[in-house]
Amino acid sequence: MTGVSDKPLLQVLGGHRPQKTPMWMMRQAGRHLPEYLELRGRAKDFLDFCYTPSLASEATLQPIRRYGMDGAILFADILLILDAMGLDVRFEKGIGPIVQQIEKAADLTQTPAVKAADRLSPVYETVRRVRAELPDETTLIGFAGSPWTVGLYAIEGRGKTDKSTAKRWAYEQPDELAGTLDALVEATAHYLAAQVEAGAEALMLFDSWAEGLPDDVFQTIIIEPTRKLVDRVRTLGVAVPVIGFPRGAGVMAPLYFEKTGVTGLGLDTAVSPGFINEKLAKAVPVQGHLDPLLLIAGGPKLDQRVDELLEAYSGRPHIFNLGHGVMPETPIPHVEQVVARVRAWDKA
Ligand code: CP3
Repeated sequence: MTGVSDKPLLQVLGGHRPQKTPMWMMRQAGRHLPEYLELRGRAKDFLDFCYTPSLASEATLQPIRRYGMDGAILFADILLILDAMGLDVRFEKGIGPIVQQIEKAADLTQTPAVKAADRLSPVYETVRRVRAELPDETTLIGFAGSPWTVGLYAIEGRGKTDKSTAKRWAYEQPDELAGTLDALVEATAHYLAAQVEAGAEALMLFDSWAEGLPDDVFQTIIIEPTRKLVDRVRTLGVAVPVIGFPRGAGVMAPLYFEKTGVTGLGLDTAVSPGFINEKLAKAVPVQGHLDPLLLIAGGPKLDQRVDELLEAYSGRPHIFNLGHGVMPETPIPHVEQVVARVRAWDKA
């Protein structure tokens, strides 16, 4: 392939500003959609759903059909890699994920990385099916959790904790934490490379728990493992763009961009456009970052903020998105309102 892609989302990640502002929303598939809830009822549990390509591919396509989003995010979960690496992973209604806790790095290195990635072959089948059905202008985004965020679930055993057990490893068992993150880098790299081989056209790394870390710890547990992951993915021959999303990185976000080698920076709800535009070179592609709670609230303030964000990033490559995922109680007409507003802004 030569020249510039004709897909707006890939054009932005290539550093351009296409006529159409590409948009999608994190967690656009899932529980705010009645058609997802209907589909979800057909699987025994959430893991089973993720491992059934007919269901997972349909769930990926539902928000594309309903809203005409420019990005289709593969329907899967960041915790599948832990299941594939041999830990017991369950999703309990009302509680969220429950993961078999590890006590040391060796608890996570029982399964060779390539074998773990091989176990996720149903996910690659989902990628192939989605790619075959997507409209020409839509980009298929594969993803994984970043090493810290995924490792944190294995160390804490669940997500709804104060995260202090995992954070203390950074000080009290730094070698065990480093070994855990290295194991995740290797398995995740093979997993991402296989998604691209199956047809993913861009990748996203979710670091949902990058918030609240001291700057030195942020460098060792967020930036360094992410840099290793991006490097490893490249040595495996992957050339597609990578969006890094260090949620809650705050003032560390520009350094994260400079040091990790990601192609674009995913911005969270709390960051200010003024800060980003001051600290990041104009050519750097950004993605974000409407508040998911404003999306629930709706009304004229929603239109106003959409315009503000579009205006703020009009001087750089920008993918419109939320600052975190769509919440289950989000009214569908509010999502439609945002889509219409973004499309109208392009024409104005
Ligand atoms: O549209 C999409 O984004 C679909 C694909 C997707 C899911 N999870 C499906 C899902 C993606 C990209 C994720 C990523 C993910 N998973 C993250 C990173 C993004 C973020 O939100 O910070 C994290 C931290 C997880 C871990 C996870 N998975 C949690 C904490 C939970 C329970 C809380 C919740 O929202 O239910 C899940 C379950 C999950 N993952 C659901 C979906 C649609 C709900 C399961 C159901 O339908 O019952």
